[in-house]
Amino acid sequence: MSRKPVIAGNWKMFKTVSEALTFVRGIRQATVGLGYAEVVLCPPFTALALMSEGLRGSGISLGAQDVFWEDKGAFTGEISPVMLKDAGCSYVIVGHSERRQYFRETDEKVNRKVKAVLGHGLTPIMCVGETLDEREAGVTEKIVRAQTTAGLAGLAPEQVAGMVIAYEPVWAIGTGRTASDEDAQSVIAYIRDIVREQCGETAAGNVRILYGGSVKPENTAGLMSKRDIDGALVGGASLEVKSFTEIIKRTSETRR
Ligand code: PGA
Repeated sequence: MSRKPVIAGNWKMFKTVSEALTFVRGIRQATVGLGYAEVVLCPPFTALALMSEGLRGSGISLGAQDVFWEDKGAFTGEISPVMLKDAGCSYVIVGHSERRQYFRETDEKVNRKVKAVLGHGLTPIMCVGETLDEREAGVTEKIVRAQTTAGLAGLAPEQVAGMVIAYEPVWAIGTGRTASDEDAQSVIAYIRDIVREQCGETAAGNVRILYGGSVKPENTAGLMSKRDIDGALVGGASLEVKSFTEIIKRTSETRR
């Protein structure tokens, strides 16, 4: 089964529109000829529309960091999947641990968002992962199972096959502490088993599962050499053209 790797940059709440456009110019030049991995940039909402123009013809896709599940209506402050599509997005991060932690996003909300995103022909990048307390208590598998099962509830196997899931241990996000290659591979293989149980072999064989949490150029090749790891969701190291390009390059070299 050959799954094309995805390298997605999650910019979180960083970069103004002009900073984002400067990055776009830089990354377009730096990634010419690095065509193997699929590259996605997820800037803040404010930069989406202009970045979409700036990325035209580059082969780099655009993603949002969150979404609301309704198409339109009186939901002050929210952004719908229709609007994201209109702004040029093809991916949407759903259920990032920062949303779960600071904005009370539950598995049920994550599931509604995933369904809305798929319903509009966009690709969700659904995040799951345990906290440090949970890892130390030995309940990583239980947590990841609960989040995955609930997040995928009610989806057709073909929908799941086209999705992206990101395993991001919360203790590895922004801490400089990465999961070991073996730990990341083992949890990601476990997530693939859950998808197999819930949605069947084709979905499990096709769904792309990324690792996220302090991914940087130096640890990319080790992670990407593992058979179930299909790419990375990159926070801090996606903010600089140099480090993000290096991650794309090393992924392409390892997986080609
Ligand atoms: P990090 O963030 O690479 O800065 O650890 C990853 C993420 O939160 O998606």
